Amino acid sequence: MKRPIAISLSPNTQKDDVILALKQLFKPVYWYDFTKTEELEIKFASYFGKEYKALAVNSGRSALYVILKALDISYGDEVVVQALTCVAVPNSVLWTGAEPVYADVGNDFNIDPSNLAGKINEKTKAVIVQNTFGIPANYNGIRKVIQKRKNKVYLIEDCALSLGAKYKGKLTGTIGDVSFFSFGRDKVISSVFGGMILCKNERIYQIIKEQRDKLDYPRPGWVIQQLLHPLIFSIALPSYNFGIGKFTLGKAIIYFSQIIGLISKAIYKEEEFSRRPKLFQS
Ligand SMILES: Cc1ncc(COP(=O)(O)O)c(C=O)c1O
Repeated sequence: MKRPIAISLSPNTQKDDVILALKQLFKPVYWYDFTKTEELEIKFASYFGKEYKALAVNSGRSALYVILKALDISYGDEVVVQALTCVAVPNSVLWTGAEPVYADVGNDFNIDPSNLAGKINEKTKAVIVQNTFGIPANYNGIRKVIQKRKNKVYLIEDCALSLGAKYKGKLTGTIGDVSFFSFGRDKVISSVFGGMILCKNERIYQIIKEQRDKLDYPRPGWVIQQLLHPLIFSIALPSYNFGIGKFTLGKAIIYFSQIIGLISKAIYKEEEFSRRPKLFQS
């Protein structure tokens, strides 16, 4: 039987994840107990070095939004993002009121420093470096361009796709001013939705923490959707090709589970119009 390559279908979900999710589904008292989250923050930060601190959020896009807010980026400011990116990146910039400015990518699918030079001006507050497909960007080239500016331009690392990747011996996430990671359904570590902010500057950490703590807690219905996700996919994936032509059992299970709200989509409808869904509000 053909097996799907399930890039956006939670390829990392394994039997123990399904069992854990099932157990948690019946333990709502733990849903808002953040002891484990704090343990994860400490463990995650220690992977990068003892001088690092991490802050957990519900997604990479929340992480980026919180970082931008903490850096006081808002209306009238510009943030450079690369042209090949996830919709969540320019959207997070737009949610702050700032304008995303697109820089071309080079052959490594990351920001091309020679194109970046023409995209930065006195309104630019930050450049988001993305390590596409886990390939580290040309940090030295990008930094050289930024350092030529008189105004402070923050280097934000988007490590949604590059957890564990290294640039000249340094882990991505430890090179810029502040970085973020995604634990989305198709990422290196997956919790269906989830994200982490990483930084070592104590002042920036405190401001980010203040912003992060303002975010709304996800509602119980959303938590249930995330816990149901591995369960539903454990049924849908084995039957993904079982059917006639495009009409298969697995696809139908996923489709109807989304339609009736048993599981969530990776991108919400509002985001297709750059609006901010309730889940990412503060
Ligand atoms: C490069 C990149 N940055 C940011 C994000 C946003 O992460 P999340 O889906 O956790 O909000 C994604 C999501 O796929 C991504 O691919």
